[in-house]
This record gives sequence, structure tokens and C-alpha cells, in this order.
Amino acid sequence: GSLKKYVEPLPMMPKLFGYAMKDGRPKSINLTIGMFEKKWKFHRDLPATTVFVYGTSRNAATFPGPTIEALQGVALNITWENHLPEQHILPWDPTIPVAIAKHGGVPAVVHLHGGVHEPQSDGSAFAWFTANFREKGSKWTQATYHYPNVQHPGNLWYHDHALGLTRVNLLAGLIGTYIVRNPLAEAPFGLPTGDNYDRHLVLADRSFYKDGSLHMNFTGNNPSIHPQWQPEYFGEAITVNGKAWPYLAVRRRKYRFRILNSSNARYFNLSLSGGLPFTVIGSDVTYLRKPISMPWIIVAPAEIFDVVVDFSEAKTSSVTMTNTAPYPFPTGDPPASSLSGQVMKFVIAQNEANKDDSRIPVSLMDKYPVADEKEGAAARRYIVMYEYQSVTGEPTHLYINGKRLEDPVTETPRPESTEVWEVINLTQDNHPLHLHLATLQAVRVQELVDVEVFKACMEKKNDAVECNIRAHAVGKIEAVPEHEKTWKNIVKINPAYVTTIIVKFKLIDRDACYPFDATAQPGYVYHCHILDHEDNAMIRPLLLKN
Ligand code: C2O
Ligand code: CU
Repeated sequence: GSLKKYVEPLPMMPKLFGYAMKDGRPKSINLTIGMFEKKWKFHRDLPATTVFVYGTSRNAATFPGPTIEALQGVALNITWENHLPEQHILPWDPTIPVAIAKHGGVPAVVHLHGGVHEPQSDGSAFAWFTANFREKGSKWTQATYHYPNVQHPGNLWYHDHALGLTRVNLLAGLIGTYIVRNPLAEAPFGLPTGDNYDRHLVLADRSFYKDGSLHMNFTGNNPSIHPQWQPEYFGEAITVNGKAWPYLAVRRRKYRFRILNSSNARYFNLSLSGGLPFTVIGSDVTYLRKPISMPWIIVAPAEIFDVVVDFSEAKTSSVTMTNTAPYPFPTGDPPASSLSGQVMKFVIAQNEANKDDSRIPVSLMDKYPVADEKEGAAARRYIVMYEYQSVTGEPTHLYINGKRLEDPVTETPRPESTEVWEVINLTQDNHPLHLHLATLQAVRVQELVDVEVFKACMEKKNDAVECNIRAHAVGKIEAVPEHEKTWKNIVKINPAYVTTIIVKFKLIDRDACYPFDATAQPGYVYHCHILDHEDNAMIRPLLLKN
């Protein structure tokens, strides 16, 4: 049977400050964070689950890991240590491009998602390492990563990025949140603050065996080609901050929730019972220009929405957060209303004094540049997403522009430049596109007509211009939702559409520049953030070149 819902209180993850105060001023520090195997209770009625998690020690490690609080302009160094055991706890597949440790151990490497930092600290898929650095991938350079935190205040997260193991390493629990704050710039907004009223909600779908262990298939859809890989992992239980279907006791006042979807493949279409809205104030690494009230938000894998919920407007004593996103998104089955259709519950305290000094401001951050297609028009790229299938019609692998990660780099933007990427989705699924280093914004979403003709041409020529993309990109136009019109790290790419995005390879501050050499090896990557796609092998190199 299914686990009883709303009996586990929502945990607050431990917090690590990414700076130290000295003589009244914040100073850079070094943190050491390890990856550990341990047991984690996802639910009171489920035996403890073996997980791989981040923490400053095995005891302190949590699912998800500690929240790192950095300050804009104060650099932070982190030494990431691998204390994982000899064997993985989940099945993986040797037939996809994958890091293999010849002498045992679990290859792992950490990427700060949304971070603006040098390539050597980016967590290249080839920079993996095993326990005690016994074995290292071909692009390993250093044990300590440098995060300059030069970017605007916003929401980031850190997670594993080892070649071909991303889906299993994250599923095992190698995830955590990271905030860049700028108290001077953010205080005037008057948003809810403090640990009680400004909270992370880290969503992750998971299935469990009766003994509590994580359930992941041992057999692929196409076992003669890939013995284990499946095109998407979906779990039946929804966990938030490491508890299945938790509840949070709240007051009748405003709360800020930083909602991260850390799932491998599941999209969420979230809403609150009783018609309570989300007031969206930001997404990924940026704030919106002004708050936008939404009855629902669609959160792709790796996407973050920063919202305010005002429980003083609730007419009931509890509010449930539900999910209606089909899986796979958008053409799969709807979630069962008794399982992945439920997320968490907010239980509202009745007779408590509710002093609430916070507010929802009229405007937020107005310093960002406008997304201007003309600015990037000199560098226009066509990025084609394609799924290859076996004779039985099962997906075998997914590529971008028909190329693998190991194939020579084709995307070599200039540092500090702006480009226009036309992302053409020839598959049936929505894919969350993610670029390292850059921020992105969708400006046009247009349906392809005669997509089969275009596809047939692409199969022969693999060149969008030669296949006359202009003649096909003439279908109906979907508006970019107002609450997604900001500089993001994830843009959702509709199937059978061309999505035109502006890509900024520079800080979103017009005159700031990188305090590091962005052209250094091993470069960056861009990829689909459905982890099962990324691993096989919807990922390409991105190398900045002058
Ligand atoms: Cu969130 Cu390349 O990753
Ligand atoms: Cu994908």
C-alpha cells in the first residue's frame, strides 16, 4: 500500500555560510563538503533507505544536502570530497558513455548549477574522481573549486555531474541548494525573511522497495542495446526536503518558498487548494521585474521558482499543494491523484498572533538587460533535439545536432557575447535546456509545420538551414509566460516547436565582466536536464573562444 500522507514534518536542511564576518566585513572562506553513504528516513512507515548525500560529515549529511548561503561579491572555495563506497547502490549502464572506475568506487564530480565560475571549477563530466582521488577522469584538474559569486542574488543548486552516472548519482541523493544573497539590494523588497518564513522546497519523485531501498529498474526498454538505461525515471512518491508527502505548520501570514524540482524527469504543474495563488518573484538565478500572481506554475526538472504564498488569504485551515503534470511531459499519463498528484500540505495555525511585517513589493529587480534578439543576431545557432529509436520504436539514445559529447565542439561563443539560439525539438517530449555559465531567455515559441518533411530532410542532411527551417517555422505562436520572462538557467523546449532563446555569455550586469578566464579548458557544456536524456547523450561541449 501507499505511505500515509502528511504525517512527516517538513525538514529544514542544515545551513552553511559561504563567508565569515571579520571586523564587521564578510571574508572569503574555504569549506569542505563530502559525499557519504548513509541511511535516511523518507517516511516513518518506511524502513531507512541507503542514500548518497552531501554534508560536512557523515553524521551531518542530509537528503538534500546543506543549503549554502553565499554573498554576492564574496568568493567561496569548496573542496569536494568523495567518501562513497566501492559499489553503487543503484544499477547503471556500461553501454552509454560512462565514467568507469577500474579499481572500484563511485565516480562523482560536483557542478554548481547557475554558477558563474571558471571552467576548471565547473564540474566537467570528465573531471570525476573516486574516494581519496584514487582514480580521476581525463579532465580532472583540481580538488578545490572556486566560486566567485559575482552574479546577482538568486537561486542556484549543486549536484553531481559524473559522465553517464548523473541520473543515478542524483537519484541516490547528491543534490543541495545554494543561494547568492545581496542583503543591501534585497532588503528594500520587504519579502518574508528568516529561517521560518524563507524556505526551500526541494521536490524529488522516488519509488521505494518494501525494505526502504530506492527502486530503480535493473532492465532497460531495449535490453539488447542498453541493458539498464531507460528514457525516463519516474517515482510514485513525491518527497519534499527528503520526506515523502510532508506537511508544514504555518501561520496566517506570507511565506517565501524557493521551489526546486530536483527530479530526474518529472515535470510538476503545481497549484494550491482553495485557489490560493503563487506570487512568483523570481526564477533560477534572477528576480522578476515585478511580482506575478499565478494560479499554477509548471516546474521542469532543475528549474527553480521563487514564490510568496500568503496564508492569511486562505479560507480553510489547511492548504494542499497538488501536481497535474502528465509524465512524460506533456503527452504522458496524468499523475494518479492519490500518488504523484499530491505534493505536500500546509497546516495553518488558527489562533496565533500573526504579526507580518513582510510585503509583496510593486517592483523587484530592474537592473537586468532586456532580451533583445537584434543584439545577438550576428551569432545565430540552430540546436536540434532528436531521439533515435530501435526497430521496435523504443528510444535508444538522444542527441543534439546528431552529435555526441565526445564529438568536436561546434558551439564556441565569444566571452561576454550575446547569441540567438533557435532550438528545434523533433521529439515528442518537452526538454529542459540548460547551459553552463550562460543565462537564457525565451523570446519566441513557434510551432513547426510539416514537421515530418523537415525531419526526413534532417535525417539526410543534418542541417537546419539547408532543410529550410524558415519555411517550417511558421506555425502558431505560443506566448512565453510572463513569470518566465527573466534570465534563466532552464528553458522548457516544446515538442514540434522552434524556441528562440537569447543566450548571454556575460554577466547580466551590462558592464561587469568575468574575474576569470572563461576560455580555459575543459570548457563548459549544455544539455537537456532530464537526467536520463543527459546521460544518453543529450549533452554537448560549450567552449568559449576569443
Ligand atoms: Cu544542473 Cu549541467 O547541470
Ligand atoms: Cu531531454
